[in-house]
Amino acid sequence: MSDTKATLTIDGREGAIELPIYSGSLGPDVVDVGGLTGQGMFTYDPGFVSTAACESQITYIDGGKGILLHRGYPIDQLAEQSDYLETCYLLLYGELPNAAEKERFVGTVHRHTMVNEQIRTFYNGFRRDAHPMAIMCGVVGALSAFYHDSLDISDEQHRQVAAFRLIAKMPTLAAMSYKFSIGAPFMYPDNSLNYAENFLHMMFGNPCEPSQVSPVLARAMDRIFLLHADHEQNASTSTVRLAGSSGANPFACIAAGIAALWGPSHGGANEAVLEMLEEIGDVSRIDEFVARAKDKDDPFRLMGFGHRVYKNFDPRAKVMKQAADEVLEELGIDSDPLLEIAKRLEEIALSDEYFIEKKLYPNVDFYSGIILKAIGIPTSMFTVIFAVGRTVGWIAHWNEMISGSYRIGRPRQLYTGYAQRDFVPLDKR
Ligand code: SDX
Repeated sequence: MSDTKATLTIDGREGAIELPIYSGSLGPDVVDVGGLTGQGMFTYDPGFVSTAACESQITYIDGGKGILLHRGYPIDQLAEQSDYLETCYLLLYGELPNAAEKERFVGTVHRHTMVNEQIRTFYNGFRRDAHPMAIMCGVVGALSAFYHDSLDISDEQHRQVAAFRLIAKMPTLAAMSYKFSIGAPFMYPDNSLNYAENFLHMMFGNPCEPSQVSPVLARAMDRIFLLHADHEQNASTSTVRLAGSSGANPFACIAAGIAALWGPSHGGANEAVLEMLEEIGDVSRIDEFVARAKDKDDPFRLMGFGHRVYKNFDPRAKVMKQAADEVLEELGIDSDPLLEIAKRLEEIALSDEYFIEKKLYPNVDFYSGIILKAIGIPTSMFTVIFAVGRTVGWIAHWNEMISGSYRIGRPRQLYTGYAQRDFVPLDKR
C-alpha cells in the first residue's frame, strides 16, 4: 500500500479531507474512501463503474489493452497450452501444478463427480420444460442440505472439500438438467474420462450403449470451460463475494452466483446471441438489426457486444473466434450460416461510427454459442455451460475473501424519498 493521498475539498466546508491512495501490482491506483462516513458523506457509484470492491490476486484485466491474466498467465497462452482443470488449480492455489500435483488434483476431482442419489429426485419436482438455469439455481443451493460435513467456512479443509465437490459436481448436475428436459435417463459420470469428455458423456451418452466422445469436441468443450473460468469482479463473482461476506455456506454462495449469471446482460448473453443470430436469419438483414441497436428508442441491443471493462477487444472473443473456425473445420462443417452472420455482423459493427464511438466489441459470449451449437449443446444450456466453467472462479474469489480478513458487505445509498411524516388513519385518506 503506498502512502500517497487524495485531498477532497467540499464547497462550504472548512478544511480538506485526506484520503489514502493505494497502488496494486498492476492497474489503476485506488482511493480509500472508507473515512468519508465519518465526515457524514458516502461515495456514489451506481453499477460500481469506478469502485474497487476488494483486493485480489487472482485475475487481472486491462480493458484498454485487451489483457486478461489468470495469476499472471495470459488467457491465450492458457487456452492454447493448458486445460481446464490445470487452470482450476492455478486459480485456486496461485501456481501451475507440477505433474504430481496435477495428477492428485484431477484424481480428487474425479472422486467427487457423483451426486447423492436423493438429488436425482429433486429433478422430478420440476416441469420438463423448466429452464436448466432455474434447475441449477435450485439443485446447487440444495447441495448444502447434503454436505453438513463441509459447511464450516472457517475450516480450510471444509472450504477445500466444498471446492472439490462444486467443481466436480457442476458438470454432473448440468448434464442431469439437460437429460431431465428431454426425458432421457441420467448418465453416471465415467471417471476414466477427462473433465470435458465426462461432461459430454453425461450429456449425450445413453445407458444402452458405450459412449463415443469425440476428442475434437472434448477439446473444444474444455477450452470453452477454460475461457469462462474467471473474470475479476464481474456481477456474478461480486454476488458470490457479497453472499459469502455474510458467512453463507459455499453452496448457497455459488447458487447466488448462478442466479446473477443468468441475466441477459451477463452470462445469459450467450443464449441471447444465438437467438439474435437466428432472428437475423440472413446477412441481408444485418443492417436492420444494427440500426435497431443504435436506436435509443429501441431496447434491442446487439447481444455479445460491449463490455464494462473491455473498451477494446475481449481477448477471450479472439480465442473463441479462432476456436469456432477450428471446430467447424475439424467437424467438416464447411459453412455455418449463423457463423457467417456473426462474422459479417462483427465486420459491420466494427466499422460503424456508433460502435466505434461507444467502444463496443464482441465479448466472450459472441462466438461461444457457435462452438456450443457445433458441439451439439442446445441453446437453453449455453448459460449453464458458462456457470460450469465459472464455478472455479467464484470459488477462488470466495476462498480468497474467507481465508483473509473481510467484513460483511453493506453498501449505503443516496436517499431521495420522503422525509419523516405522520401516519394517516384509513378514514382520513
Ligand atoms: C459478460 O463483467 C464481466 O466481466 C462480464 C463477463 C464475465 O466474463 O464475467 O465478461 C461476461 O457478461 C459479457 C457481457 C455479455 N452481455 C452482453 O453481450 C449484452 C449486451 N451488452 C450490454 O448490454 C452491455 O454492453 C454490457 C452490459 C455488457 C455493459 O454494460 P455497461 O458497461 O453498463 O455499458 P452501458 O450499458 O452503459 O452502455 C454504454 C453505451 C450505452 O449507450 P449510451 O447510454 O451511452 O448512449 O453503449 C450502448 C448503451 O446503449 N451499448 C450498446 C450495447 N452495449 C452497450 N448498444 C448496442 N448494443 C450493445 N450491445
